Amino acid sequence: MKNYIFPENFLWGGAIAANQTEGAYLEDGKGLTLVDLLPTGQKRWEIMMGKLDSLEPKEGEFYPSHEAIDFYHRYKEDVALFAEMGFKSLRVSISWSRIFPNGDDETPNEAGLKFYDQLFDELLKFGIEPVVTIAHFDVPVNLIKTYGSWRNRKLVKFFENYATTILERYKDKVKYWMTFNEINMLLHLPFVGAGLVFKEGDNELQIKYQAAHYQLVASALAVKACHKIIPEAKIGCMLAAGSTYPYTCHPDDVFDGMEKDRESFFFIDVQSRGAYPGYAKRFLKENNISINMEKADEELLKSHTVDYIGFSYYASRSTSTDPEVLKNQTSGNIFGSVENPYLEKSEWGWTIDPKGFRITANQLYDRYQKPLFVVENGLGAVDEMSENREIHDDYRIEYLRKHVAEMGEAMEDGVEILGYTSWGPIDIVSASTGEMKKRYGYIYVDKDNEGKGSLNRTKKKSFYWYKKVIESNGEQI
Ligand code: BG6
Repeated sequence: MKNYIFPENFLWGGAIAANQTEGAYLEDGKGLTLVDLLPTGQKRWEIMMGKLDSLEPKEGEFYPSHEAIDFYHRYKEDVALFAEMGFKSLRVSISWSRIFPNGDDETPNEAGLKFYDQLFDELLKFGIEPVVTIAHFDVPVNLIKTYGSWRNRKLVKFFENYATTILERYKDKVKYWMTFNEINMLLHLPFVGAGLVFKEGDNELQIKYQAAHYQLVASALAVKACHKIIPEAKIGCMLAAGSTYPYTCHPDDVFDGMEKDRESFFFIDVQSRGAYPGYAKRFLKENNISINMEKADEELLKSHTVDYIGFSYYASRSTSTDPEVLKNQTSGNIFGSVENPYLEKSEWGWTIDPKGFRITANQLYDRYQKPLFVVENGLGAVDEMSENREIHDDYRIEYLRKHVAEMGEAMEDGVEILGYTSWGPIDIVSASTGEMKKRYGYIYVDKDNEGKGSLNRTKKKSFYWYKKVIESNGEQI
């Protein structure tokens, strides 16, 4: 395979999120967060879409986030393993309800703040740069109960207070920040993205776009605060990316593909260019959506744009305007997609398209002309342990190798990329299904879908592969 040249200071690493990793869901004063209400299976889907009847965990139900992989107690062991692989960075999220258990508390929870101090110190001890997402699928449940979550403008203030608190506290430790994880996911999984719960008769589109506006304003305020509190830091947005291909070259299909991409670009256009684009204004008008904006919002969005574009890439998408073709759907990181006959799929139906990674990176760079940061990429797969307790995950190595190569190609195309943090370097709870058996890790965690297992960690074959990639700065993939 060709040798790629990555910059000296390229941030190789991995990415995890508090809600899928930490567990300790009520420990040291932490309050309930939205993911603590997500069980597994079909019920999880319904809730993620905003259909739920109670904001309390139910007796006898299994909630994977409550223990997750117990990172809260085992982070030292895990960080040591990341260090052994040579990680230059680790993307984590801070749990909002560990810091403000109810979201609207007057003062932060010191025990929660302390946990992240210890985590960041541990990372820095090994020269691992923390990359922090302020909100990764995370709203304290009390804010949902009391205020209706991001339907309510009050959330902007609560978020600003939370963001300012952690920026101040960790200003000497954290130089890379992100505001909302996969902000565009709000349109597809409104409960997960924004804590939205719908009742019969709600105008869901109106509510989603209003919530989106409030998150965009909150994001701009966090950017403003970050630039003031830590002038040398970089703060980015985070897009669930993956270009949409038209199924045919029929102009209707091509246009449809462009529209589908714009549904996601809308968020980043605002966060990176600082204003609602014309196509979004037209969409809102044609769908009778009226956004409640305050006078100062436009100026705020304009003045506080992000420094870099963080994105996740798992799969490309395809679209068609032909009803017959539309019948062949596949899943692919939540976004529905027409099956692409040229591409293979993962066990969960997510399209595998390394070249699409290069296409997506180029498209984002052409559009925003700001550095990119690949903050998620990887293959969710079932791993089997052999009798002598080895895991030969060649399929994962194959997926990652091809994607890293395409990232190298994108860089040769002139795309500026700050780093690459593959998703779930240690097995964690799947966001979409709640399963443990959908594994992304270089490190195996002994836990099954029902929550049983020793939680012991075991290195997989890919552990040694990734170590070599980092050691050679991407030359040996
Ligand atoms: C992204 C999310 O959508 O995809 C992560 O930011 C998530 O939280 C990842 O885990 C992979 O998805 P899943 O459903 O396989 O865990």
